Amino acid sequence: MDGNIFEKILGQDCLFVDRRAFDHAFEPTRLPHRGHEVESLVRNLVDALNGHIPSNMLLYGVPGSGKTVVTRFVLGQLLDKGEEMGQSVETYEINCRNVDTKYRVVQTIASKLGRRGDTPIPFTGWPTDRVLEELISRMDRAGGVHIIVLDEIDNLVSRAGDGLLYNLTSLNTSLRNSRCCIIGISNDLNFTQQLDPRVTSRLSQEDLVFHPYGAPEIQDILSERVNTGLREDVIEEGVLELCSALAAQEHGDARRALDLLRISVQKAEQRSQKTVDRRHVRLAQSQLEYDQVTPVLKTLPLHQKLLVLAIKLNEDNGMRNISTGETYRTYSDACMKISVEALTPRRISSLLNELDTLGIIMARNVSKGRGGRSKQVNSAIPKGVDAISIMGESEPLIAEAALGRYNLQSQL
Ligand SMILES: Nc1ncnc2c1ncn2[C@@H]1O[C@H](COP(=O)(O)OP(=O)(O)OP(=O)(O)O)[C@@H](O)[C@H]1O
Ligand SMILES: [Mg+2]
Repeated sequence: MDGNIFEKILGQDCLFVDRRAFDHAFEPTRLPHRGHEVESLVRNLVDALNGHIPSNMLLYGVPGSGKTVVTRFVLGQLLDKGEEMGQSVETYEINCRNVDTKYRVVQTIASKLGRRGDTPIPFTGWPTDRVLEELISRMDRAGGVHIIVLDEIDNLVSRAGDGLLYNLTSLNTSLRNSRCCIIGISNDLNFTQQLDPRVTSRLSQEDLVFHPYGAPEIQDILSERVNTGLREDVIEEGVLELCSALAAQEHGDARRALDLLRISVQKAEQRSQKTVDRRHVRLAQSQLEYDQVTPVLKTLPLHQKLLVLAIKLNEDNGMRNISTGETYRTYSDACMKISVEALTPRRISSLLNELDTLGIIMARNVSKGRGGRSKQVNSAIPKGVDAISIMGESEPLIAEAALGRYNLQSQL
């Protein structure tokens, strides 16, 4: 082989100027269409600079609506201003998906306040009350205002209950030389229903809802990133519109739009093309759909896989709105072919609900007259994804069941 194998690729024109602009962790300096949310946070948190205690806040909004990025931006500016004014402000951002126990949350915050000579707080092992006491004494030692952001707070509550929130929202009664404020972030609007009403009233002194972005708003967000991250004139007409429209359909998720755009550019690059057009967006969309649904299909338990198989077999035979009865018949047939005992119809009905929650199928209830109800199902797997093969690769029994002959109803 002539020369170094990296040479050819290295020499290729790159459409990106700065790929990092499309990273999930990128922190943009401008946040279009979030002026109101930024201002609400600023109005509250400015108290930290005036030596008062800001209210605790709860931020809500669908995934990708900018909750994390807006909060980080505001806290960054707050820290800068605090430093400039000589006001002691400390901020802590905890992602409760990763740090999901009371002990770990308190330990993480207290460790950030550690100084040389302090006894290190172990990751586990101390009684939680002792870690809490250590936190209080370290906060007081540092003085000033401490702002604790609990991102994806619903994860913490569903795993560990609301005990920690009770403790954290009462910290101000124990602190002598410092003050503390809690900002909770959630994409589950109903999460406060899991909380003790006393915790809710302390935590949600101010609520801030991030509405889902519409397509034109997403387009503005994308335009900003194009300016920072891509070479000039690589995006053809209609590309940003299409990315935004597709992401707006997905509950207005800016993350999805940025991913679509990034993958579209990569698709163009892989084909050594100098501009990105709508075909690249379509390719990117199928890849994203494929990447999203494949791991779910692969990891489904056997009986759910068999159910998906039953639905797909019926759909491949031209059926739509397949009744639960029909699904069950094909499913039991499949079970028989691989000598597995079929589950009861009642159990299957609840498995269908689970598949619906996972977004693999769409199930809807229809009334059957005389108060009777039944379910109709359709698969929600994108067209380009060969669900049966994917499931068959990860579970040989499915491959075996798929080979059998079925006596299927066809569409009337
Ligand atoms: N107004 C905006 N301007 C620029 N970028 C934005 C804006 N809103 C969101 N983004 C970008 O979209 C992506 C998703 O935003 P973010 O992570 O803040 O969403 P989120 O509401 O926290 O979602 P989740 O509930 O899933 O955590 C990030 O890459 C972020 O930079
Ligand atoms: Mg977030």
